[in-house]
Amino acid sequence: MKSQLTIFEVGNSIPANTIVNVASVPQRSPFRYPGGKTWLIPIVRQWLKQNGTQANLLIEPFAGGGIVSLTAAFEKLASHITMVEMDEEIAAVWEVILTGKNKWLAEKILKFDLTHENVKKELDKPNKNINDIAFCTILKNRIFHGGILAKGSGMIKNGENGKGISSRWYPQTLHDRIVAIDFVKNKMDFIKGDAFEILAEYIDNKSAYFFIDPPYTVAGKRLYTHFDIDHEKLFYLTSKLKGKYMLTYDDTSEIRHLAYKYNLDFRTTPMKTTHHLEKHEIIISDNFNWWTQSIDGQ
Ligand SMILES: C[S@@+](CC[C@H](N)C(=O)[O-])C[C@H]1O[C@@H](n2cnc3c(N)ncnc32)[C@H](O)[C@@H]1O
Repeated sequence: MKSQLTIFEVGNSIPANTIVNVASVPQRSPFRYPGGKTWLIPIVRQWLKQNGTQANLLIEPFAGGGIVSLTAAFEKLASHITMVEMDEEIAAVWEVILTGKNKWLAEKILKFDLTHENVKKELDKPNKNINDIAFCTILKNRIFHGGILAKGSGMIKNGENGKGISSRWYPQTLHDRIVAIDFVKNKMDFIKGDAFEILAEYIDNKSAYFFIDPPYTVAGKRLYTHFDIDHEKLFYLTSKLKGKYMLTYDDTSEIRHLAYKYNLDFRTTPMKTTHHLEKHEIIISDNFNWWTQSIDGQ
């Protein structure tokens, strides 16, 4: 069944084999994002609701497809949201959607005649402005293997049902998602910049919530242009945050070692999709009082 993921318990509260119906997580991002966190949304909702009120400020320093920020904005889980991303192409999309010609982008997607020739024309266009870059990024994200924008990625050949490059091109859906963001963009900021600088800047902010989803140690290189981060520095900065945080990682001995070294508490959540092998994730947080609630009946 396509719309269901299975999340198994390893921590203490989430019942083993709980089926999280991903249909309960509206897809709000225009990106299909490798390593996207849609499956984690039920847990993120709990985390953001831990004080029983809306969070004042949510900061997502490695925003990528931005599913956590968008969900928080639409579901009123945070009154202000700051997204940060350093990738030039991804940043262009967020800048156009949040502060630029979002309607132009939505219309361009809707009207685009998806042929190999037209794609080539768009991608090869010289002197692209920010709008062109945003459009090409969405295009590549939809027609390249796995949505991967990093160098070395290429166009889908057969895709679903032999539909090739059009197998993930849903112009009306993309148009509608971009237009919908208009309703919440007044409470969203986007910063094209370095996650580490933003974390350092907000390190003493007691009321901020940080959702930190860095490129992982193992898969990052294949998936993202910017993958080579200083993981130890990220653990150090996280350990100094005065606000609330959730830091997610793949479950490796290197990451466990860093968590122990910086005295950070964590839980693990194995997840399994119908398409992927079982994958374990580590969730590090300043407290786990919120984790004890059931994720059923969200
Ligand atoms: C694991 S992905 C985030 C996925 C996101 N949580 C989602 O659900 O779509 C990590 C992102 O961090 C970005 N990135 C890498 N290094 C960065 C840095 N120093 N500052 C800001 N963004 C960075 C990458 O370009 C990538 O988009």
